[in-house]
Amino acid sequence: MIIQSIRYDLPISDIDFDKLYSPYIQSLSELHWTSIEVAKKAASFLVQSSDTKVLDIGSGVGKFCIVGALTTLGVFYGVEQRKELVDISRQIISDHHVHNVKILHSNIIDIDFLAYNSYYFFNSFYENIEKSRMMDCSVTTSNLHYQQYRDYMCLQLLKAPIGTRLATYCCIVRDIPSCYTVYQTSFNHQLKLWIKDKSSLI
Ligand SMILES: C[S@@+](CC[C@H](N)C(=O)[O-])C[C@H]1O[C@@H](n2cnc3c(N)ncnc32)[C@H](O)[C@@H]1O
Repeated sequence: MIIQSIRYDLPISDIDFDKLYSPYIQSLSELHWTSIEVAKKAASFLVQSSDTKVLDIGSGVGKFCIVGALTTLGVFYGVEQRKELVDISRQIISDHHVHNVKILHSNIIDIDFLAYNSYYFFNSFYENIEKSRMMDCSVTTSNLHYQQYRDYMCLQLLKAPIGTRLATYCCIVRDIPSCYTVYQTSFNHQLKLWIKDKSSLI
């Protein structure tokens, strides 16, 4: 019923959607997982055809990818460093037969962004510089990690072709390369929809 509600655009609250997950994962939702409405808006911007491959940079329990996969024709790829979150996402995806989504267990610095067409970023590296945003102690965090992940993401975004679409949520704007321009903002300017409209020297 939860999955069908999203697929057929029936009203459903985040509290009800999050019942797909355990009480512990539900308790992390407000701070760490994208809301349904934000995910729908971002996904509809990022997907231009059934050939579009969307990369979620730090996919958590897969909420953005699952909502995107159920509401668009695109294929969603989540990359997540925490193995237990990867396992939770894969279980939900398999239990509910959501076909156009795949979750990879990896650190983002091992991912070639050119294998994808558009990108979603919910400020995933922030836990390295703001301890209140850490969801647990299962990964090592540091300022150095923040810089390393951010610099890698920037380099990958610079290499992407003109016309590439990016959606950021609660993101630090200066972390996005200047060859990307904000095309639209919503949800109190927290969701920003970007298009790469200038060439980069890389
Ligand atoms: C704010 S949550 C967003 C989850 C998901 N995108 C959503 O919107 O529902 C950020 C996630 O990024 C993951 N993450 C942080 N740094 C990462 C990295 N370097 N490589 C892969 N995943 C990372 C965290 O483990 C966390 O699950």
